Amino acid sequence: MAKLTINDIELRGKRVLIRVDYNVPMAEQDGAMVINDDTRIRATLPTLKLMIENGAKITLAAHLGRPKGERVPSMSLRPVADKLAGLVGQPVAFCDQCVGQAAEDAATKLEDGELLLLENVRYHAEEETNDPAFAGQLARDVDIFVNDAFGAAHRAHASTVGVANIIADRGGQCAAGLLMERELQFLGEELEAPDSPFVVILGGAKVSDKIKVIDRLLEKADTILIGGAMAYTFKLARGFGVGDSLVEPDKTGIAQAALDKATERGVEFLLPTDNLISRMKDGAWADPEVNNAQDIPDDSEGVDIGPGSTARFCEAIAGARTILWNGPMGIFEDERFAGGTFAVAKAVCEATANGAKSIIGGGDSVKALNKVGLGGQVTFMSTGGGASLEFLEGKALPGVAALANK
Ligand code: 3PG
Repeated sequence: MAKLTINDIELRGKRVLIRVDYNVPMAEQDGAMVINDDTRIRATLPTLKLMIENGAKITLAAHLGRPKGERVPSMSLRPVADKLAGLVGQPVAFCDQCVGQAAEDAATKLEDGELLLLENVRYHAEEETNDPAFAGQLARDVDIFVNDAFGAAHRAHASTVGVANIIADRGGQCAAGLLMERELQFLGEELEAPDSPFVVILGGAKVSDKIKVIDRLLEKADTILIGGAMAYTFKLARGFGVGDSLVEPDKTGIAQAALDKATERGVEFLLPTDNLISRMKDGAWADPEVNNAQDIPDDSEGVDIGPGSTARFCEAIAGARTILWNGPMGIFEDERFAGGTFAVAKAVCEATANGAKSIIGGGDSVKALNKVGLGGQVTFMSTGGGASLEFLEGKALPGVAALANK
């Protein structure tokens, strides 16, 4: 059922608490924390702009990292407030508390259209235990709760679920932000009855992380392309040698079951037929070469799909009308092993330019697209990692379930 969104409600003069996912990668530089990738911050701008134009008094709550209830200075959201101010083009007040008198005072001072970012909610252990008293403090004097944190919607925490329940119980509105709405549209509705051919590209390290997604997508896909280390578990299930490649030997049973289901349903299920292989020598990758045999030599690891598989995968992508991509084809962080992933990224963008709908399921595939500067050339890039996978598995996300239906 469609969720109530911020387009459906009156915002002027209202005190609105927005849960955002500003869990962005940061690194220390000259003694300060610097944001390496602001995609998640930018992704909330449509929601914030609409709220500002409509004169809401806006308080933002977010988490950063996993400080486990401690005030870990490197996980402070203060750098995010500065970054956000630059992106949104107006000051963003920052409060170094997320609850208590200081947070309340800062929120009370807000005029219509002004923004306040609260400190990391995970500095309090009560956030992750969804403690009702802590959620009650976050909800204090709030008229409307908005969840725009799709990436954290799989967590039943105080700032995602507890606060929504409290506000709903006292008759307040709980709505989806515009980012949340788009995530649910593209990863949900658009994949309910996708235009055919529907090509799914899955990669990453582990079959066990993706098997539920594979199982569900086998009901809808015409073609599934498998790359990354998870391909080696499938190859092991088929009886091929995988050398020293990263595999899950105890998962060959579920891999074989997926292969059987694909055959039963007439889904084309493509595994790499050639690979780039390499060996670890003195703690570094050495001697990369193309291995054209189905078996990988004993002393080598598969590190990328090979040129033949890349061409075959790109051909399938070129013929698609709907594409879902989640997970890299190899160790793309090392440019020697990035060829397969980048070729897939380009093929997805070309297919999109030719009219296909392309949906990128978050995480490393988004990183890969951004690395080659193609982030803007797909239909939709999810900001979720674990949340995207759980949603694609068909699970109800607690943060979404807590919002009102239309
Ligand atoms: C993410 O980065 O996937 C989300 O922000 C959720 O973070 P978490 O896995 O620490 O809950």
